[in-house]
Amino acid sequence: MKFFLDTADVDEIRQWNETGLLDGVTTNPSLILKSGRDIREVLAEICDIVEGPVSGEVASTDYDSMLSEGRKLAKVASNICIKLPTTMDGVRACRTLTDEGHMVNMTLCFNANQALLCAKANASFISPFIGRLDDMGIDGMELIEEIRQVYDNYDFETEILAASVRTVNHVKACAMAGADVATLPPSTIEKLVKHPLTDSGLAAFVADWEKTGQTI
Ligand code: E4P
Repeated sequence: MKFFLDTADVDEIRQWNETGLLDGVTTNPSLILKSGRDIREVLAEICDIVEGPVSGEVASTDYDSMLSEGRKLAKVASNICIKLPTTMDGVRACRTLTDEGHMVNMTLCFNANQALLCAKANASFISPFIGRLDDMGIDGMELIEEIRQVYDNYDFETEILAASVRTVNHVKACAMAGADVATLPPSTIEKLVKHPLTDSGLAAFVADWEKTGQTI
């Protein structure tokens, strides 16, 4: 499963890119607001750091304006992935922009039929929002499983990009359900490696090694 970082914070992206674990980045209007940066300027900087797809989201909601904004964002760098909302105008714009050779990430997906439409429109990625479904008392992971089944039934190449990931359990469940990508907030990636038995075991090994008086 690929890991994308879900942030527009350039310092965090640089730091996580150095681990070699990052396969891409996702942003959205709320994350751009949080960064306090100009969208094209910050996307350009992120695209310089990360080799993989960097999602930049359009702000308009009608077909023509989405095309115009999407094309402007795509000019920022060759690894920009245009992020569009999963509406009928968005699906139509997806088809047009992918026909032009752009990568497209369809966002705000909350059911398998939306994901089916986006795959038929040749989306590069579909972004089902797990956490926001969980917030409503609906199991977000079931959606990942349903989309996996639908896409496998028809050999769709659209990648399932699990979004709105909030917990380490989400990450494990996404990997088990066969999501192609999970986009994670930096705080969640950090937690993936943590285990108290790793820490206590390592402390014991370090202490015993010191007692041997050896060096490697
Ligand atoms: C990423 O593409 C999404 O915009 C993001 O994961 C949404 O996360 P949230 O539901 O925590 O805002």
